[in-house]
Amino acid sequence: MIEQLDQLEAAARSDLGSATDAASLEAWRVTYLGTKGRVRAALGATKDVPKEARPAYGQRVNALSAALEEAYKARRAQLGDAAATPTGPRIDVTEPSIAWSRGVGRRHVLSRVIEELAEVFGRMGFSVARGPELEDDEHNFVKLNIPEHHPARDPADNFYVDDPALTLRPRMLRSQTSTVQVRTMEAAVARAAASPAALGGLAEPIRIIAPGRVYRPDTVDATHSFMFHQLEGLAIDTALSLADLKGTLASFARAYFGPEAQIRLRPSFFPFTEPSAELDMMIALNPDQPARWIELGGCGMVHPSVLRACGIDPERWSGFAFGFGIERIAMGKYGIPDIRMLFENDLRFLQQL
Ligand code: DAH
Repeated sequence: MIEQLDQLEAAARSDLGSATDAASLEAWRVTYLGTKGRVRAALGATKDVPKEARPAYGQRVNALSAALEEAYKARRAQLGDAAATPTGPRIDVTEPSIAWSRGVGRRHVLSRVIEELAEVFGRMGFSVARGPELEDDEHNFVKLNIPEHHPARDPADNFYVDDPALTLRPRMLRSQTSTVQVRTMEAAVARAAASPAALGGLAEPIRIIAPGRVYRPDTVDATHSFMFHQLEGLAIDTALSLADLKGTLASFARAYFGPEAQIRLRPSFFPFTEPSAELDMMIALNPDQPARWIELGGCGMVHPSVLRACGIDPERWSGFAFGFGIERIAMGKYGIPDIRMLFENDLRFLQQL
């Protein structure tokens, strides 16, 4: 029977030599050292050994068990990583996640466009102003020369928070960033009140852009969303004309879309500007399409009634204003065909930008 143990050891050592990965090594361990393995079986067979030979047999089995245990550990160390890697999926909880390594932590394309716009206008002397998204109709309509009963105030076209039929100054989610024009002028007039240099309500010119969210109960489709972003612009100085507006917009277009970019102004109407125009820009939506005119927003010379409503004398000061759709700009710049893609947070889309 001792002879059988010698054979068992020889077989075990030979099999161990052919175990080359974690799976075959584990199979070997189960076969020889497992609780139902061959070494255990040999130990169990002790009772069949003639009494006088038992001590020698027992010692031999114990020595065999220890030797194979050693050999197993040595083989595992020798195989190194190969033995450590199970053949199934490997989970190392200390590894950075796949999501992390793909760079999920980047800025959203709209945030990046807003930063780029602030940069380009910043070079032209415009600083960034902000206003609340929860507004009142005073800033969203009244001071922008949009009188009561104007169709733009229709409850069906606005997100009122208070019932406009029952409330004197109903609050609403702002429907346009033009509200920030009013707030900026009011604040400048309040500051100027303390200044000896103030003339006609202002102590110094204004030059701001105001990026932000606006809300309208639109039906959602490829080009409409009930929430979107606008970039408002406002410049007030002593002698601004339509030529300054057009020059500013053309410089912006070339700085942002490249030297080939063209703009055109089409006559239009807005209550808060006179004259008013619609701004189009010639851009290619993607590299293999010819460039075409894309409507970016409205603009014009600030209406005297708006200046007056904010406490500024229109005889001394004049200004221009503009309001663009930021999604339009992002879609034009990055060739995005559907506005909904910007809000779905689908990583497959976001990672392409
Ligand atoms: N507020 C306008 C809108 O939402 C856009 C606009 C037009 C803004 C003309 C302006 C402007 O500042 O001068 O449709």
